[in-house]
Amino acid sequence: MSETVPALRLAAVERRYRTEAGELPVLRGAELALQAGEIVALVAPSGTGKSTLLHLAGLLERPDAGEVFVGGHAAGTLSDADRTAIRRTTIGFVYQFHHLLPEFTAEENVVLPQLAAGTARGAARGRARALLGSFGLTGREDHRPGRLSGGEQQRVAIARALANAPRILLADEPTGNLDVGTAGLVFEELLAAVRGQGLAALIATHNPDLAARMDRVVTLREGRVVEA
Ligand SMILES: Nc1ncnc2c1ncn2[C@@H]1O[C@H](COP(=O)(O)OP(=O)(O)OP(=O)(O)O)[C@@H](O)[C@H]1O
Ligand SMILES: [Mg+2]
Repeated sequence: MSETVPALRLAAVERRYRTEAGELPVLRGAELALQAGEIVALVAPSGTGKSTLLHLAGLLERPDAGEVFVGGHAAGTLSDADRTAIRRTTIGFVYQFHHLLPEFTAEENVVLPQLAAGTARGAARGRARALLGSFGLTGREDHRPGRLSGGEQQRVAIARALANAPRILLADEPTGNLDVGTAGLVFEELLAAVRGQGLAALIATHNPDLAARMDRVVTLREGRVVEA
């Protein structure tokens, strides 16, 4: 039975923002199920709610109605501590702009989330070096983000998202900030890592070529998720 439970499921999710012009309904009953090992592209015009949906799926925000299920657990019923634990260990998140900690080295950026999850420092360092190596960053471990190229920064951000061996990877235009060639390379590496580890992934992108490399493409229409 448990193998049929989606890694991530959004059920009747609603999200509206209160603005000066009144309420802005962004998600209006969004439904989405991600199976383990499934990589889904989210391709939709600017302002339709991709980031909103990813933030809800990543338990960074709460829906106004509906529920987010992570591995079958209803996130809305969990304590803040349990939500934080899931964010730390079960879900990896990659942003368009790396969001690395500028005062820490590449390695430390990948070590810190592991320490937060209770991993011993030695093991965390070993895993960080291995992950960074798998993204071609051997020799760059001691560089701070400001001393890395945009593509290298995003590779570190991906390594950080994978640091605690999550089951789900969420990425919000992870290569949207890179030139076309670098975006393609970093994207291939991201897909290889996600496939290699059998993760469920939801990746927002404006690039149709990148979207076509994923298993399934969905879009947002009137606040709902529909197959593209
Ligand atoms: N905190 C907020 N307060 C008010 N409105 C918001 C807030 N966050 C987002 N919005 C609005 O909600 C809508 C969806 O925003 P969202 O960032 O999810 O879009 P997106 O699809 O990610 O767009 P893009 O492709 O430009 O990143 C937009 O109209 C945006 O202006
Ligand atoms: Mg966005």
